Parts: sequence; structure tokens; C-alpha cells
Amino acid sequence: MNPETMTPLDSYLRDLDLLLADAQQAFNSATNLQEVEEARVEFLGAKSGRFKAVQKQLGQIPGESKPVAGQNLNRVKNDIQAALDNAKQRFSTESFRGQPDPTFDRTLPGSTRRLGRLHPITQTINELMDIMGRLGFSPAFGPEVEDERHNFEALNIPADHPARDPLENFYLSVASQQHGNTSLLRSQTSTVQIRVMEKSQPPIRVISLGRVYRPDTADPTHYPMFHQMEGLMVDRNVTLATLKTVLKLFATNYLGESVPVRIRPSFFPFTEPSVEADYFWNGKWTEFGGAGIVDPNVFKAVGYDTEQFTGFAFGLGVERLCMIRHGITDIRDMYTNDVRFLRQF
Ligand code: PHE
Repeated sequence: MNPETMTPLDSYLRDLDLLLADAQQAFNSATNLQEVEEARVEFLGAKSGRFKAVQKQLGQIPGESKPVAGQNLNRVKNDIQAALDNAKQRFSTESFRGQPDPTFDRTLPGSTRRLGRLHPITQTINELMDIMGRLGFSPAFGPEVEDERHNFEALNIPADHPARDPLENFYLSVASQQHGNTSLLRSQTSTVQIRVMEKSQPPIRVISLGRVYRPDTADPTHYPMFHQMEGLMVDRNVTLATLKTVLKLFATNYLGESVPVRIRPSFFPFTEPSVEADYFWNGKWTEFGGAGIVDPNVFKAVGYDTEQFTGFAFGLGVERLCMIRHGITDIRDMYTNDVRFLRQF
């Protein structure tokens, strides 16, 4: 149509057609709800939408053309609204049911939920608590920063004993000065024996599982921090036979088959007699750890009647038990926090 001969109505109707074509194009090509919303604001926005602008021009249409212009305005408005409804409908969850979502890229790798898991040592500790719990031993705990009374003196380890050498222990100089007595990172969980007996009377059946520290150079079987399971039983008539029975029941439960247990003479300041306990498994004798009958001097240090009560104590290395179970050959692997290693357990 020649623009010169166009009446105001003609140009108004042309603007309306253009508006509708643009709006339909925008709503039909939207690929997600966000784009639908952007198109809605552009065309139907209440303040500065393009429809609003064309609507305002209606005022300049001469009186006789107004009805036609108005009818067309309404038609276009309805058509734009229909295009909007249609676009919304395409992205509503309802319409996706049973048909593919056009915005979903099925070639993208899926997201898997990564599950954390317990460290092998924590798993072993939980299992040991479980087994010993069934044998009537309840868990007991003590601090990792200890004083010399609990780590040595009450355990019948006198001041001149080589186990107290600074080269064998992590003494804490700053903490020691502040408290006026020497503290150290505990070198054994036997400290918890004393803490339990100071607070409670026999009969006692506890285990204590926790970290201990010794200035050892790390190698496949040593690490400056490791875990022990301490056991303590105090009652009337507790003997070496009771100890051996508990160790055998423990080994049988942990290893899943009946295993022979043997004890060999040894020495610890806090037990008399003292033994090393071994169990026979996979064709060879393997050491559990140290054990023995609680020395009367230890009972005296906590005020127990040595005439009435006897007890046994044992201290086993948790890492060793864990390594045997899982075929781990280097203790250091457990503390380098390499997920490729930790994921195996
Ligand atoms: N505390 C000893 C150690 O660390 C082990 C032990 C515990 C021995 C209890 C006897 C009784 O070697």
C-alpha cells in the first residue's frame, strides 16, 4: 500500500498487525519460562508494553474509524494473550508429563550424590566397641593431654623410669608452665584405667578407645599418633584365665572364627604378672598387645582394697587390627587422607 494514500486507520491497522506478528514470534520461539516472561513484559507490560503504546494511539484515530480500530485492537490483544497462554502451557509441568522436555539435555552427564563414609579406623573402633559391649564392657574416655600422674605415676612408672624420657614422649612445655605441672600427649590409653578407678568402685568392666602419641618416625608399621583399645576389668576373683578367655572371645568375634590365643611372659610396670598376648590366624602367631593382672601398686594409687579385688588390663593397637582385617600394609596410608585409598572401605 502506498504510504501517501494510507489513512490513519490503515496505518493503525498495520501497526497492530506488526505488533501481533512480533508478539507471536517472541512467544513461539521462547525456550523457557524466563523468556516467556520477558516477552510478556515487552508486549503486555502494563506500563511500557508495546500493546499499551498502540492502545494509546487509538485517541488519534478519527471518530468514524474508531469502532473498526477498537475492534481490531481487541482482536490483537486476545491473540497476543492466546500466544502467551500457549507459551506458558508449553513449559508447565503438566504438559511435560509423558513427553520429552525440550529444555532437557539428555546427553549431559548425570549428577550422582557422593556419599561420605567413616574412616576405616572409626569403623574399626565402632566394631570393637560393639564386640566388647556384648562382653559387658562399656566405653570410657579420657583426655589426650594428660598429666604425669595419670600417664605415669599412678601406673607405677617412677620418675626415673626410661618410659618417661623426653625422647619417648611429647611433653607440652607451654601448657605445663601454665598449669604448674607437666603435661604431655598421652603415650598410652592406660591413663583411662586410672581415671575410671578414681571415680568408681569395683566391679568395673570398661574399654577405652582413643588416640595415643609417641615420637616415632613414621614407617609402614609406626606412626607418631595411633589408637589403642584399653580394657580393664576389676572384681573379686579376676585371674589370668579370665583375661585369656576375654581375649579369645574378642579375637574370635573380631576375626569371625575360633582362634587359639597364647600368652607369653612380659613386663609392664602397672601389671604383675605381665604378658604379651598372641592369636593364631592365617597360619601364624600375631601379637595383640600387652596385658596382665593389675599391679597392687596401681590399686593403692586409686585407693582400692588389694585384698578384696583383682583385675586385668590389656592394651591393643587398633591400627594393627584394622590393617589385618583389610589387608592394609602401610599404616601411613590411613593418615594421608587420599580419597582413592579411603573409598575402598
Ligand atoms: N599400655 C601398654 C602399652 O602401651 C599396654 C598395656 C595395657 C599393657 C594394659 C598391660 C596392660 O604398651
